[in-house]
Amino acid sequence: MIPKSPFRFLSSLSLLSVQAFAARPTIVPVDEGETNTTLSSTHNTLITTAPAPLASVPISLSLSLSGYLNGTNTTTSSASPTPTSNVTLPACKSIQYAFPSGTGGNATRAAAIKEAYQYAWDAYVEYAWGYDELQPLSKKGTNDWYGWGVTVVDGIDTAIIMELTDVVSKMLGWIQSVDFTTTPDGDVEVFDTTIRYLGGLLSAYDLLKSGQVYNDYPADQIEALLTQAKILADKLAYAFLTPSGMSAANVDFSTNTPVEGTYTAPSGKTYNSTNTASAGSFLIEWYRLAALTGNTTYRSLVDTGEQYLTHPSPAPVYPGLVGTQFDTTGGGMLNYAGGWHSEVDSFLEYLIKIYHYKADNITKGYADFWLSATNSTVEHIALHPYGFEDLTFISGLDDNGVLTYTMDDYACFAGGNFLLGCKVLGIDSLCDLGIAAADGCHQTYNTTVTGLGPLYWGWFDSTNNTFPPDSAVDIDSGYRRQGAANGEFIVNGDEVYASFPESVESWWYAYRITGDPRWAEYAWDMFLGLNKTARNSVAFATVNNVDMPFGESQGDSLDSFFFAELLKYQYLTFADPSTIDLGQWVFNTESHPDDGHVKSCSIVASTYKETLSFSSDRKSLARYTKTAPRKTS
Ligand SMILES: *[C@@H]1O[C@H](CO)[C@@H](O)[C@H](O)[C@H]1NC(C)=O
Ligand SMILES: *[C@@H]1O[C@H](CO)[C@@H](O)[C@H](O)[C@H]1NC(C)=O
Ligand SMILES: *[C@@H]1O[C@H](CO)[C@@H](O)[C@H](O)[C@H]1NC(C)=O
Ligand SMILES: *[C@@H]1O[C@H](CO)[C@@H](O)[C@H](O)[C@H]1NC(C)=O
Ligand SMILES: *[C@@H]1O[C@H](CO)[C@@H](O)[C@H](O)[C@H]1NC(C)=O
Ligand SMILES: *[C@@H]1O[C@H](CO)[C@@H](O)[C@H](O)[C@H]1NC(C)=O
Ligand SMILES: *[C@@H]1O[C@H](CO)[C@@H](O)[C@H](O)[C@H]1NC(C)=O
Ligand SMILES: *[C@@H]1O[C@H](CO)[C@@H](O)[C@H](O)[C@H]1NC(C)=O
Ligand SMILES: *[C@@H]1O[C@H](CO)[C@@H](O)[C@H](O)[C@H]1NC(C)=O
Ligand SMILES: *[C@@H]1O[C@H](CO)[C@@H](O)[C@H](O)[C@H]1NC(C)=O
Ligand SMILES: *[C@@H]1O[C@H](CO)[C@@H](O)[C@H](O)[C@H]1NC(C)=O
Ligand SMILES: *[C@@H]1O[C@H](CO)[C@@H](O)[C@H](O)[C@H]1NC(C)=O
Repeated sequence: MIPKSPFRFLSSLSLLSVQAFAARPTIVPVDEGETNTTLSSTHNTLITTAPAPLASVPISLSLSLSGYLNGTNTTTSSASPTPTSNVTLPACKSIQYAFPSGTGGNATRAAAIKEAYQYAWDAYVEYAWGYDELQPLSKKGTNDWYGWGVTVVDGIDTAIIMELTDVVSKMLGWIQSVDFTTTPDGDVEVFDTTIRYLGGLLSAYDLLKSGQVYNDYPADQIEALLTQAKILADKLAYAFLTPSGMSAANVDFSTNTPVEGTYTAPSGKTYNSTNTASAGSFLIEWYRLAALTGNTTYRSLVDTGEQYLTHPSPAPVYPGLVGTQFDTTGGGMLNYAGGWHSEVDSFLEYLIKIYHYKADNITKGYADFWLSATNSTVEHIALHPYGFEDLTFISGLDDNGVLTYTMDDYACFAGGNFLLGCKVLGIDSLCDLGIAAADGCHQTYNTTVTGLGPLYWGWFDSTNNTFPPDSAVDIDSGYRRQGAANGEFIVNGDEVYASFPESVESWWYAYRITGDPRWAEYAWDMFLGLNKTARNSVAFATVNNVDMPFGESQGDSLDSFFFAELLKYQYLTFADPSTIDLGQWVFNTESHPDDGHVKSCSIVASTYKETLSFSSDRKSLARYTKTAPRKTS
């Protein structure tokens, strides 16, 4: 969810030369006559170029910005990717376990989660109203997300679902008044602004229009949610005016120009670049905005950028497991650091969710790519630590595509994502993978003093070594002691818990999909740990060391995703299971449900199950379906 590179003890590894794909095909000029839209007229230098075709991309990229900036209601534009096939898409299916009516929730626990929301919200109002976020130790507000009140906009849909009506009323009044076209705080990061602000606005709008929640709010304030989303997106859209059409990492709202990030290869060559999660986590919000406004430009923009990621050049080491950086000029992939971890995570997450949201010939291509990534995950990176053959972690790959035997908490969303894909595509073995991954993350929470999980951990491989071999890690007595006891060791410096929602997210999917009550117990155990360790006399804070009594000390932040994600997944675990049914709603990576009029369809490779195979590190995953991981010896 949050792009961050946590691979600190791997930093000494040499980077792979990127010379292989430094030479791009020549840039194709596009008819300059087609430049009469608002966006393009401010960007004459950019719109005269088209993306360099990627050798392996079997799509037509006769890109013209004017072709897809005119807001027509056509299904596709000249810039949209070519459908991957004309397969018939079958009927929809339900996703959730069939809980008997009136079962599956726990009103006492739901009320406790709601109390936590109200407690933290009251502190935000008292000490930080109008600021982006509360600093719960210094008791003041901070503007770290452009000063538009990210706690309000990101947190509103959770408050709507909890039916905290006074909170929602105050939030709606604020949102209507925000000027999203300007910020004193420099360049605007497109990824976080999309998932927190745009996602929050659209989700609140969809919920209040759905007839499924309490809604006695002023109609003009509800309409303002969509109007504001459109205003914000029309500014963010300038980020896509790169030579490739892939979004730049940032956009300057005063000049309406993309602001490039850079990535320097060992060769010394520097690319304009963006990380994969940032470039590839737009599909849900922008598709939804296109559907709600009728302006297909929003969809075309994100489909175009997505094509580079789903047709990576050069090919990743394992199909689907793309690296963390892409070149926004030529569209090439810049390293092989694949996996489900930060800087890739929500790119993969959205591929199956967008197909669940809307099955069509284009999103089927996304689902196929996701399936190749999950297949590679089972084949190559779902690993059992030394001595813990019932425990599964999803390893990352380093820049060269070599296993790291490490995992970050961000990757803990993957268990829920595999489970969703299992039901959407009808591939049972993916449920086994999802259960195993969700259990692996539970192990990292269940083995600490606080019951909260760390940011980043590693483990010893099937031959009792670690990566890289003979490193300091291999002989570190602390790591060895933890590894022997728990199957994993917390990487020094990454003992923090900062409202990370991903593990609870996966347990929630596991609960709603399997109906097995142990998942709800895991969430409740975690909530008790949170309430005990992260709560203080003001609100909730971050926890500096999850494996020390009282978390050692607290940190001075309360991120908006505490409200938007952590408490939403917690609350939904104990609300009646018909609340935000997974068959009807798709969540973005910030946990905002969007009403997709969902059609989830079974279209998959029926041969998939037969191709599963496991090496010594990867025994049968199926056995984990019923039991929690435990030490084998
Ligand atoms: C420019 O806009 C006008 C009016 O919207 C339209 O008729 C015309 O086709 C556009 N020109 C090009 C080259 O797209
Ligand atoms: C909008 O773009 C589509 C696709 O290029 C084109 O067919 C259509 O004529 C354009 N409409 C306007 C009003 O420019
Ligand atoms: C599309 O369907 C037609 C008719 O069923 C078939 O002949 C053709 O090969 C299909 N094309 C693709 C790309 O699958
Ligand atoms: C997929 O493409 C085929 C051929 O272009 C078309 O007949 C079919 O309706 C498309 N299906 C969807 C869901 O768009
Ligand atoms: C609901 O939660 C409360 C508080 O944890 C617990 O005591 C009770 O047993 C739970 N009820 C059910 C039916 O699980
Ligand atoms: C459609 O969205 C694009 C991209 O934000 C914007 O430039 C264009 O003005 C919009 N069209 C309409 C009709 O609102
Ligand atoms: C990066 O983008 C800037 C403009 O934003 C451009 O001047 C520069 O040439 C680009 N560099 C590369 C290596 O593409
Ligand atoms: C697109 O179609 C929808 C529904 O038919 C309509 O409400 C909307 O105004 C249309 N948008 C544009 C830009 O034509
Ligand atoms: C899964 O991986 C195996 C081995 O690499 C391969 O043979 C198979 O085609 C893959 N299946 C899918 C659906 O990608
Ligand atoms: C570990 O999980 C078990 C089973 O859910 C629970 O009883 C125990 O309290 C948990 N321990 C911690 C530290 O979370
Ligand atoms: C695993 O390796 C460590 C460090 O070399 C060693 O102390 C330990 O005894 C080994 N465990 C087993 C079961 O061989
Ligand atoms: C959470 O902590 C508060 C303050 O200590 C306490 O009043 C409340 O009962 C706790 N909630 C649960 C469910 O333990």
